[in-house]
Amino acid sequence: MCRNKMKPRDSCHPPAGLFVGWGIRACLEWERERAYLECLYYVLPIVTPITHTSMLHRLIQRIVLMSLVFAALVTVVQAQPGPGGQDEKAENLKVLPEDMPLPEVRRVMQGFTRALGVRCLYCHVGEEGKPPSTFDFASDDKEVKEVSRVMMRMVHSVNTDFIAEAPGEGEKLNVTCETCHRGVTRPALLEDMLADYVSEKGVEEAVVEYQRLREQYLGGFSYNFQEPTLVRLAQQLLDAENPDAALRFLAMNAELFPTSSQTYAVMGEAYVAKEDTPAAIQSVEKAIELNPNNGRLKEWLEELKQQ
Ligand code: HEC
Ligand code: HEC
Repeated sequence: MCRNKMKPRDSCHPPAGLFVGWGIRACLEWERERAYLECLYYVLPIVTPITHTSMLHRLIQRIVLMSLVFAALVTVVQAQPGPGGQDEKAENLKVLPEDMPLPEVRRVMQGFTRALGVRCLYCHVGEEGKPPSTFDFASDDKEVKEVSRVMMRMVHSVNTDFIAEAPGEGEKLNVTCETCHRGVTRPALLEDMLADYVSEKGVEEAVVEYQRLREQYLGGFSYNFQEPTLVRLAQQLLDAENPDAALRFLAMNAELFPTSSQTYAVMGEAYVAKEDTPAAIQSVEKAIELNPNNGRLKEWLEELKQQ
């Protein structure tokens, strides 16, 4: 006969042991010991047909004893270092404290991956697509791992030798990998990267690269895609006596930011560099139209018109 009303299944026929096992398993998911006991007292009367309080009491005592023995066994087994397993200690820490527990090491590492926008294998030896248990995290074969150690020492020094020593009350901010890297491996300014690109590969390649970066990173915190970036790039290109490249990027910027007076002003400079005074006048007029209060632009326009 079926006495318990809140049975987990429709039938009471399966042996009580099945339900006891089910109850224990459910309770084990409650991690704290006290909660485990409470859970057993709560769950077992529901899932088993036992109604006698003293019987229930004895059963739970036996389960708890068994669970303790089981837990002790599990601990012993886990303490044995498995082959390449998760339970080993780190072998090759040179900057982090040598005895830092692995879960903590991994948390630091997750910070690295986020800060640089990479995955573990950027710095560690292993095969992409294979499980991390096959990776050789202790190996120093990749140079970037050694670079990272230099960076870790630098960050530590910046925070303890300098920021902590700076005058001022209150909590000091710390520099982290992310402060500089912002999700990329080489924390360069977009305009500087593009200027290098122009001199190494040419302006059209640099335009393609800009578009690629914009597609990948727009809205993120790695690169600044606001109005001033390409204007500053154009100024660098003018300094490098490459007004054509400057004009190429300024035309792009004018399309992206049609109300940017600065863009047209620097365009004027580029046309002056190309000794094309009529085009320079047109650009400066446009710059003034977009920013009518700029006296300096107006003076410059007068000068250009007298040439
Ligand atoms: C930017 C480079 C970088 C990335 C990315 C990185 N690590 Fe590391 N990792 C290091 C460096 C450097 C050390 C050594 C630290 C030291 O010497 O104190 C290290 C050490 C370790 C160790 C200790 C190895 C040992 O036995 O000495 C483990 C484990 C580890 N990393 C796991 C990971 C995991 C998992 C990831 C991905 C989530 C990851 N790392 C991503 C640079 C990196
Ligand atoms: C103060 C700014 C700054 C901080 C903070 C910083 N880095 Fe760097 N990092 C740089 C610069 C700049 C470079 C490029 C150096 C070069 O040109 O070789 C770089 C390069 C690297 C590289 C080589 C990238 C490559 O592919 O060439 C790695 C790896 C790296 N950093 C890891 C880290 C880690 C890990 C941290 C945090 C522990 C960190 N960095 C913190 C400025 C910083």
